[in-house]
Amino acid sequence: MPGGLTVQVSVDSEYGVLVNGYFLSQNGFHFDNVTDIIDGTKVFLSFPQNRDAPLSKQISDDPGKEAVDQRFECPIGRLVFLFSFILKIGRLRYIMTNKSQHPFIVFGAPQIKTPEIEEVIETLKSGWLGTGPKVARFEHNFARYKNISPANVAAVNSCTAALHISMIAAGLEPGDEVITTPMTFCATVNSIIHAGLTPVLADVHPSTFNINPEAIEAAITSRTRAILVVHFAGRPCEMDKIMTIAKQYNLCVIEDCAHAIETEYHGEKTGTIGNFGCFSFYVTKNVITGEGGMVLAQQEQDINRVKRLALHGMSKDAWHRFGDSGFKHYQVMECGFKYNMMDIQAAIGIHQLARVDENWQRRKVIWNRYQEAFAEFPVVCPIDPAPNTRHGYHLYTLLIDKQQTGITRDEFLDAMTKENVGVGVHYLSIPEHPFYQQKFGWKPEDYPQAMKIGRQTISLPLSAKLTDDEIKNIVLAIRSILDHR
Ligand SMILES: Cc1ncc(COP(=O)(O)O)c(C=O)c1O
Repeated sequence: MPGGLTVQVSVDSEYGVLVNGYFLSQNGFHFDNVTDIIDGTKVFLSFPQNRDAPLSKQISDDPGKEAVDQRFECPIGRLVFLFSFILKIGRLRYIMTNKSQHPFIVFGAPQIKTPEIEEVIETLKSGWLGTGPKVARFEHNFARYKNISPANVAAVNSCTAALHISMIAAGLEPGDEVITTPMTFCATVNSIIHAGLTPVLADVHPSTFNINPEAIEAAITSRTRAILVVHFAGRPCEMDKIMTIAKQYNLCVIEDCAHAIETEYHGEKTGTIGNFGCFSFYVTKNVITGEGGMVLAQQEQDINRVKRLALHGMSKDAWHRFGDSGFKHYQVMECGFKYNMMDIQAAIGIHQLARVDENWQRRKVIWNRYQEAFAEFPVVCPIDPAPNTRHGYHLYTLLIDKQQTGITRDEFLDAMTKENVGVGVHYLSIPEHPFYQQKFGWKPEDYPQAMKIGRQTISLPLSAKLTDDEIKNIVLAIRSILDHR
């Protein structure tokens, strides 16, 4: 290239990596002027010296140019120059375009593989789409995963449904109070209301984001009948303390395990510690069926009630009524709901569950990479998992405090979208929402820990589907945002 400059850099060296034909420097700048790749180990980056070219104009206008030219006389100086040259151009380029060049990284992208696709097709071909043998198989496999009997498991069509009918099956009655966390998805609180019960909030611990056992005890009244805990982000709640409180006050414990399929606490698997455990297989969860849920209960009779409530209150195994062994009469025993899982959903779940540990391992790696990458950043990272527990690694959250970062959480969210990275907020605290303020008179300030977390939190992609390049791009995006704040 006459008058131009060609730089040779090793691929996957300390200088950077080659991603989709772009050279990505360690500082996070993309170079699309890769002219040649030798054996996949070296790249040549070319920069034109034509003043009319925008890139070249930036170089010529660069006040560091003279010193750079002198350094270029000796071989070591040349190397130093070349690298700093790359970084400078990259930085100018970032400022000029402020646009990432990688495709959008979806938050919570499900990982769908061939076995579940084939199983769904097979289910469709079988003609049995509704609740049937595949649901029974999924329940059986889930019970095995949780090391309990299939008689203690019932598949339903969402975690919201699971929570709702668990509370009915628990024998809770209208007006009874259920203590829960303000740091959760609205479904947790709504299901309490749907069951005709009264939700009472107890604030969370500032570093675990989980319901604080001391706050639970402080919220107990003569009407309290249950505690509904949420293992936030996959980190188990302090179940020893919570179960002790429950025993002392004769309370039912329901575990919202929407984030916590793989989670364990002191050797016990979540969902099997309290009286009921409720799981979600919604599309962003660790095991997915599209929509779907599961109830675990300590007592077999509670599962029988859950199954009945999930299918209009009809007598046990009413789904058999259309089977090939002839029509079976059923009886309606109570006014139930339409919450049953379909075989099409279970067909996905069976194969998702088979990969649950493999995917957990991958998310653990991603979680730890984030922990290492952000340790020196002016953001608050999650605390490490507690000893003798297994974290579910469902969410990776950062807290963005404007005092530290120079930008607000919401500006950070926007900047991440501009960087082509999908993000989430888990969650604005429950009392921030108008409905609950009007219905219960809750104010965010009354639950200060949840309020603070809800106003500062941001969740990063943590899907097992993320590639190493995508993880690098996410880290680089955050570094760029913080560098340019
Ligand atoms: C903590 C929590 N509870 C309950 C639910 C409701 O789950 P589903 O969508 O399966 O009803 C969710 C879903 O996001 C959740 O995150």
